[in-house]
Amino acid sequence: MNSTIAYLTTQLDRAIVAALGADYAGTDPLLGLSSNPKFGDYQANMAMGLAKKLGQQPRAIAQSIVDNLDVAEICEAPQIAGPGFINFTVKPSYLTTQLQAMQLDRRLGVAVADKSQRVVVDFSSPNIAKEMHVGHLRSTILGDCIARVLEFRGHDVLRLNHVGDWGTQFGMLILYLREAYPQALITADALDLGDLVALYKKAKQRFDEDPQFQEAARKEVVKLQAKDPDTIKAWNLLCDQSRREFQVIYDRLNIQIVERGESFYNPYLAAVVDDLRTSGLLVESNGAQCVFLDGFVNREGDPLPLIIQKTDGGYNYATTDLAAVRYRIEIDQTDRIIYITDSGQADHFAQVFQVARLANWIPADVEITHVPFGLVLGEDGKKIKTRSGETIKLKALLDEGIDTFRQDLEARLVGDQRQETPEFIANSAEVVGLSAVKYADLSQNRLSNYVFSYDKMLALQGNTAPYMMYPYVRVQGISRKGGIDFENLGDNAQIILNEELELALAKQLLQLGSIVTEVERDLLPNRLCQYLFELSQKYNQFYDKHSVLQAEEPIRTSRLILSDLTAKTLKLGLDLLGIPVLERM
Ligand code: ARG
Repeated sequence: MNSTIAYLTTQLDRAIVAALGADYAGTDPLLGLSSNPKFGDYQANMAMGLAKKLGQQPRAIAQSIVDNLDVAEICEAPQIAGPGFINFTVKPSYLTTQLQAMQLDRRLGVAVADKSQRVVVDFSSPNIAKEMHVGHLRSTILGDCIARVLEFRGHDVLRLNHVGDWGTQFGMLILYLREAYPQALITADALDLGDLVALYKKAKQRFDEDPQFQEAARKEVVKLQAKDPDTIKAWNLLCDQSRREFQVIYDRLNIQIVERGESFYNPYLAAVVDDLRTSGLLVESNGAQCVFLDGFVNREGDPLPLIIQKTDGGYNYATTDLAAVRYRIEIDQTDRIIYITDSGQADHFAQVFQVARLANWIPADVEITHVPFGLVLGEDGKKIKTRSGETIKLKALLDEGIDTFRQDLEARLVGDQRQETPEFIANSAEVVGLSAVKYADLSQNRLSNYVFSYDKMLALQGNTAPYMMYPYVRVQGISRKGGIDFENLGDNAQIILNEELELALAKQLLQLGSIVTEVERDLLPNRLCQYLFELSQKYNQFYDKHSVLQAEEPIRTSRLILSDLTAKTLKLGLDLLGIPVLERM
C-alpha cells in the first residue's frame, strides 16, 4: 500500500518495530500524534516501558532505536526528548507527494478494507403503536452513520430495522380497538399514530385493571399466533399505520433501512427453546423456562435468570433476539453484528450474547457488539419534553430545528443586505436544520448523555454542522469568483507547503484515512466529527491569514489545490455522517 498518511503511522510503526529487531517484534511502539507542535508531528513512547523491562536507561534505548531507524523518506532525523520520547517531524516533501496522490484518488486516500465483511447493523427499531422517541432518533442517526462508514470501507452492510411488532401487547390492543374503534381494524388510515398511541395507553390501562379483559386479550394473542385471518388483518393495519409514520421520519432524514421486525422471527422461537433444552442450558423456574447466567443477580444478590419462555408458553424480547442472532449468523452469513440502542439495554444484550455463546451459536470469527448510547436531555438537564411538558414528537423536534435556522438565516440576510429567493431560504433551512440535529448527536461521545439545544447546534462557530458546512461553501465561492475549474488546474500544478498554516492543513487532510478506519473499528462517530472540526478550523485559519486567488503563481494554484482538497474531504466526511453539503449558505 502506498497512499496517504493513513499509512504514515503504519509505516512509522513498521520502521520502529524493524529497528527494535526480531526479539521485540511484538512491542507496541506507542506511536501517537504529538500533543505540541514543538515536539514534531508524532511521538513514540515505548522506550520508557522497554527500559524498565531491560533495566537500562530509557534515553539509551531510544538512541539505539533511532540509530537503527530508517525513516529518511518520511521524516526529518528523529529527535529524542525528555526521559526518552522519540519525536518525528514529517518532511514537507513527503506531505506533498501524499497530497498529490490524494488529489488523484476519488476515495481521498481512504483504503478499501482488506477483507470485505458482511455486517448487520441493527438500528432505529421503534415499536408499533408507540411513538418513535428521541432514543430511536439517536439510534437512527448513529446507525446510519456507522453503516455509511462500513459501506464506504467496502463492507456488505445489512441495515435492519428490528421493529417491535409482535407480542402480547397486540392482543390487548386489537381487543380494545374492537370495542372502542372497530374501523381502525378494517380500514387503512382510520387513525393517525397519535391516536393509536393514545388508544394503546387506554388499552394498557384496561388490561391492568380488568382480569376478564386480560383473559380475552390472551385469547386474542393466541389467535394472532395461529394466524387467524381477521386478527392478522387487524394487526397488519396497525403495523402499516405506524410504518407510514416512521417512514416520514426516515425520508426526511434520508435513512435507508430494511424492516425485519420481531414478528419475522416468530417461526424460529420454538427451536430456540428446544435447542437450549438439548444443550442442557434450560432450567424451569416457577413454571418458566430460564437460563441462569454468571454475573446476573437481583438486588438481593440472588441469581437472576433470563426468561426464554414464560409460564403461559409465550416468548420474550430476549427469545426473539436469540432467534435473530442465529438467523443472522446461519442464514445471513454475517461476520459482524452491531446493535445500536440506549445503554439501558446493555444487560439485555450481555445476557443474549452470553446465552448464544454458551449454546455455541456464535462462531469464533463472528464479532457481535452492542453499541450503547446515553440519553438525550432537555436544556433543564432532565429527560427532553416539550415546553408544555409532553413527550416530544420527533416531527416537531425536527421542525423546530429547521424553523430556528430559518429565523437566523433571515436575520443574517437582512443584516448583510442579501437578497435570496424563498426557495433558497426554505431549502437551506431544511438542510442545515436537519443536519444540525444529526451532527449534534454524532459529535458527542455516544456514551455520554447530551443536552439537546437548538441554539448550540445551530451556532455558526464551534463544533456544529453549520461550521463544518461553511468552509465547503467558501471554497465553492472561490471557484465561482475566480472562474476556477478545480478538475483542470493545469498539468504542472504543484503543491508547495511553505507556510506553517499550509503545513498544518496538509497534515490534517492526510489523516482522513486513519480516522475512518478508527471509526470502523471503535464505532465512535464523534472521532470523525472532531477530525472535520479541526479540519474546518485549520482551513479557516489558513484562509484568514493567506490569500488564495490573489496569491502569485505557483503559490496560487497550490493553494487552490489545498482548498479543493479541503472541500472534498469535508464533503466526503459529512457524507459519511449522513449530512449533505450546500453550494451556498
Ligand atoms: N424495539 C426496541 C426498543 O424500542 C429496540 C430493538 C433493538 N434491537 C434488538 N435487536 N433488540 O427498545
